[in-house]
Amino acid sequence: MPDQVWWPTPRDDGLHHVIDRHERPRAWLKGVYQPNASLITQVADGAVRPQDGPTAEAFTSAVSCSAVVVDMLHYLNPGPDDIALEIGTGSGYSTALLAHRVRPENLVTIEIDKQLAARARDLLAGLGLYPTVVAGGGELG
Ligand SMILES: C[S@@+](CC[C@H](N)C(=O)[O-])C[C@H]1O[C@@H](n2cnc3c(N)ncnc32)[C@H](O)[C@@H]1O
Repeated sequence: MPDQVWWPTPRDDGLHHVIDRHERPRAWLKGVYQPNASLITQVADGAVRPQDGPTAEAFTSAVSCSAVVVDMLHYLNPGPDDIALEIGTGSGYSTALLAHRVRPENLVTIEIDKQLAARARDLLAGLGLYPTVVAGGGELG
């Protein structure tokens, strides 16, 4: 989770506020561990940055809420002999969970945003996880 994220529910003025890990560590942690919250990590393909403050621009990436990720993985029920393609790496959070079930040589994740793909690849490597992280459009197969 990046240190600064936008809260998914807009305020009364229609803007999504930023939660900064350093300024409001408890609120940030509460958001991270909120099972039904999908925290916004990128706005307008990165053109709007967290330091720009609250925004109503379109989100282009978010960390999926953990309740949904757990449900998806529960129904997918991946095993060590499975081959998995994940489309939309984002933060790499779901990829990290998948990588604990699917062997790295059988796990490919694709993210359309090059910077997000690179960030996720680095974070996963930092955890000792080495799936193939592709920067590209998942609709292309
Ligand atoms: C909900 S977000 C990330 C979800 C990820 N599971 C997580 O928890 O971080 C979906 C991601 O899909 C990416 N995306 C959107 N369209 C895509 C496409 N056609 N191919 C690959 N990635 C795509 C977006 O850039 C975004 O980062």
